[in-house]
Amino acid sequence: MASPDTDVSDLVDSLSLDEKCSLVHGAADPEGTATGYVPGVPRLDIPEFRLADGPLGIRIPDRSSTAFPASIAVAATFDPELARRQGVAMAREAKASGQHAVLGPGLNLIRVPNCGRNFEYYAEDPVVTADFAAAVVEGLQSEDVLATPKHYVANNQETKRLVVSAEVGERALRELYLPGFEAAVEAGSGSVMTAYNRVNGTHMSDHRRLVTEVLKDEWGFDGYVVSDWFGTESAVGAATAGLDLEMPGISLEALHEAFGLDPDAEMLEEGDDESIPAGETTTPKFATELKSAVESGAVPADRLDDMVARILGQMARIGLLDGDWGDGGALDAPEHRDLAETLAARGTVLLKNDGGALPLSDDADVALVGPGVAEAMLGGGGSSEVTPAREVSALAGIRARTDGSVAFEPGVERVVTPSFFDDESEDAAGDDEDAGDDFPGGKTPDIDAAVDCAREADVAVVVVRDATTEGADRETLRLPGEQDELVEAVADAADRTVVVVQSGGPVELPWRDSVDAVVESWYPGQADGDALASILYGDADPSGRLPVTFAPEESYPTASEERFPGVDDEAQYDEGVFVGYRHFDAADADDEPTYPFGHGLSYATFEYGEAEARGDDAVAVEVTNASDRDGREVVQAYVRPPAVAGVERPTRELAGYAAVELPAGETETVELSLSEHAFRRYDDSEGWTVDAGDYAVEVGRSSRDVRAETTVSR
Ligand code: BGC
Repeated sequence: MASPDTDVSDLVDSLSLDEKCSLVHGAADPEGTATGYVPGVPRLDIPEFRLADGPLGIRIPDRSSTAFPASIAVAATFDPELARRQGVAMAREAKASGQHAVLGPGLNLIRVPNCGRNFEYYAEDPVVTADFAAAVVEGLQSEDVLATPKHYVANNQETKRLVVSAEVGERALRELYLPGFEAAVEAGSGSVMTAYNRVNGTHMSDHRRLVTEVLKDEWGFDGYVVSDWFGTESAVGAATAGLDLEMPGISLEALHEAFGLDPDAEMLEEGDDESIPAGETTTPKFATELKSAVESGAVPADRLDDMVARILGQMARIGLLDGDWGDGGALDAPEHRDLAETLAARGTVLLKNDGGALPLSDDADVALVGPGVAEAMLGGGGSSEVTPAREVSALAGIRARTDGSVAFEPGVERVVTPSFFDDESEDAAGDDEDAGDDFPGGKTPDIDAAVDCAREADVAVVVVRDATTEGADRETLRLPGEQDELVEAVADAADRTVVVVQSGGPVELPWRDSVDAVVESWYPGQADGDALASILYGDADPSGRLPVTFAPEESYPTASEERFPGVDDEAQYDEGVFVGYRHFDAADADDEPTYPFGHGLSYATFEYGEAEARGDDAVAVEVTNASDRDGREVVQAYVRPPAVAGVERPTRELAGYAAVELPAGETETVELSLSEHAFRRYDDSEGWTVDAGDYAVEVGRSSRDVRAETTVSR
């Protein structure tokens, strides 16, 4: 039998120029299920090809699928195996809906705490980002669904996302922004999506060095590169730079019509200004200009053949060309629901817990306060929105779990997450005309009523949230509306106050000293209330750890306008590799984090023994659960490089971690392998370099809570 490669090149040879061109750009999906659609060539039995949005679940118009927690919550589990299982589950849901590729994972590094899409990304650290991206890719591809890691590369803000240029040096690109994509490629991703933004002046769709030279030639990527939607800058530029597939391949108006979308949806406009000529960015390029460009020789004919071969090659790889694709699909399967809940619970981070405020006793009388407690926090706004078949609010989850009473007060106006698809949502400030009308029991927002309710209960649980979305960055890290005032007022009156924060990334918690416990549950997805109850009542040990630093807004390295959102359409990345904890750990950093990278408390107490190097790329440590309850610990290892004259390096870099279940009283030796990434640095002239010398390895509970130390020599 001919190898799949031979089949593909024979097929390419049999296609006419028109047919080839029709395979490298999208069209309207006659079925209306796909986010991106390629019609196929019936004459040669080339089937239709469908791509559906992720990365928090599969988005199919008018259909429900499992709404997983935000990717940042998944990363907070520090357990990539769970992410792999999420990839498998999303692939099965994609298959059940006839979708061959998933537009995810999203894996841009969290550089700017205000970025509106941080909830779709993993971490401020490249090792965590790479591990989780690779795990989701592996899971998707293992089920013969193509992964589409996005957005390649340096798409770290939403403001002016179509035009802004990330002015970024090679070292920061190599050490921070590229490793996640390289890991996704190594994990076997069939596709990569280019970003909207420019990098050092060139649009990513047209970026020959990064798309062809780095991604394809250097990393050996043999899948196809797809544009972001309307993110193809030019036909000739993009095709010759290495872009293989243009999406959506139809005009914005045609897309709106195909999906019955609100033409005023702020999909591309938000944060943009008159510097974006509307018609130009939304006109398909390959659909209209590629054929003549090939005829004139402006795009070499063999480049078009390569584009087609890359797309057909991936279709062949998943069995689509043999008619052998699609077994094992399942939507909203019980095991997907369970996984969504496990992920949400494991990703929940206990930031503070004074005096054993948590876990709650089974019969505590609870005042449940907050504008969102009656609706699950599914996610942020934008292309990642998923409609689940079932969802559990905090109110429902706690009512189902407790033996005590639960009184409810919204306290303040609803916080509405803007939606690309739901005309009813208005804006993040909660200016929806109907806001407040739909609280259970006809309740109305009233801080005094919330205070009275809190005063009468054993414990007040206040649930607060932000509202973030694709297409816009957060103006402030403060919570929207009067939620901070609500927390302060309740904390003043209540015996005990537990605050649950549902946010897409770091937020400021100005009241944290007045409350007893703070729980960060991100956007937990459909299992919100069940997962929350399992943590609050101690059925699960909180084992989430922060994949991002929490700090006052002005202390992040991107606090200057030049760096974010940029001036004259350029964002200067001149903080270099000093992003996230690498910035806060630097000797000249003025501010301490509120909660450092890697932080997260447990209900159990863990003791660490001595750390011991195992060769030069692993470390072992004995960890004991010294408490009388079972627990789950995330053991972390950070590498501190030796000083090298003339080289500025981060104080420490995460090298390895492991999430381990430890029953009460038990001891386990945990071995962590240390990523090469933490040892090497990128030198502009020498390339990757590992300096000879002693590297301290810190083992502990967070980047700032070191429990044991050893040394490895290189
Ligand atoms: C987003 C992508 C998404 C695409 C298709 C774009 O606006 O940036 O992440 O996959 O739309 O919905």
